[in-house]
Amino acid sequence: MIRVVSGIKPSGDLTIGNYLGAMIRWHEAQYEKDCFYFVANLHALTTRNNPVDLRNRTYDIVAWLLTLNVDPSKSTIFVQSQVKAHSEIAWILNNYTMLGELNKMTQFKDKSSKAGKDGQNAGLYNYPVLMAGDVLLYDADEVPVGDDQVQHLELARNIVVRFNSIYGKTFKEPKPTLSVTAKRVMSLNNPSSKMSKSESNDSFVLLRDSREAIIKKFKRAVTDSMNRVKFTPEQPAVSNLLTIYSGFTGIPVNEIEAKYENSGYGAFKTDLGEIVAEKLGELQLTFNNVRADVDKLDLILNEGAEKASEIADKKLSEVKNKLGLL
Ligand code: TYM
Repeated sequence: MIRVVSGIKPSGDLTIGNYLGAMIRWHEAQYEKDCFYFVANLHALTTRNNPVDLRNRTYDIVAWLLTLNVDPSKSTIFVQSQVKAHSEIAWILNNYTMLGELNKMTQFKDKSSKAGKDGQNAGLYNYPVLMAGDVLLYDADEVPVGDDQVQHLELARNIVVRFNSIYGKTFKEPKPTLSVTAKRVMSLNNPSSKMSKSESNDSFVLLRDSREAIIKKFKRAVTDSMNRVKFTPEQPAVSNLLTIYSGFTGIPVNEIEAKYENSGYGAFKTDLGEIVAEKLGELQLTFNNVRADVDKLDLILNEGAEKASEIADKKLSEVKNKLGLL
């Protein structure tokens, strides 16, 4: 059976970029594939977190997965730190990763340039190696992610080729699977940068934003002076809004363009705000119920960690044997 593995880092509140680029699709795979979805909390350690916040955001992500129909009886849901093999494989794989490869990682360059002097830690640099371990432990075939993670998965494939060429077939080459419509949702106030929870507040929409905030953010979203609702490279901001509209409604972009052919940006942005607010409002009701039952979330996570550990530990043992580690 095809195996699917993907993770989300609890470093801030989830945005509609996380939702449209990755999470919205995750439940679809679980009916015919073997799916593993996890909270990448070890990846969140590259920045300083308040421990209470980190714990809460970890549960939030689990509750969002359940809200978005990831079913623990079909998919394995777990937390990275509860499956010890992740940390262990990362150390091993560090020795099969070249500095030159890590130096090329655009996300590292971007994040380290913004992190300030105190943020220049080795965790940030080695982050993609931990991520490679996350998928290699499970022989993942497919990794449903947004565009920003593709380079990390290329590195994972390099590591696989390098390791397998020395020790014989050990790991499988993982392949990123991208959303057709929303592989990169852009910032609402700068269409040349990715929507990210670490940017300014009006540049993203959070899954937990209030109706008023959502409508206001879309009203204020930058457009351009052409005043026509068209998906073209000359209109990146409007194209991004069309992507979001299409992602939330399932309506193809050309049909949305036709609908707003004779209206300006005002009506388009107002409708978009209403659509997103309505959908997120519904999801928030479910989320609030699911999130309230922490005991149930813990039960799901305990079971998930057990199932994940069984597979991950087997792979780790195979690797350790090949390396001569007792
Ligand atoms: P993270 O937590 O930043 O994002 C989670 C998922 O959301 C996608 N995403 C987006 N997609 C489209 N447009 C956007 N603006 C946008 N913002 C985020 C991300 O591509 C991702 O799929 N390193 C990963 C977490 C991770 C992981 C893994 C993923 C750790 N180990 C192993 C896959 C496999 C991260 O920080 O994602």
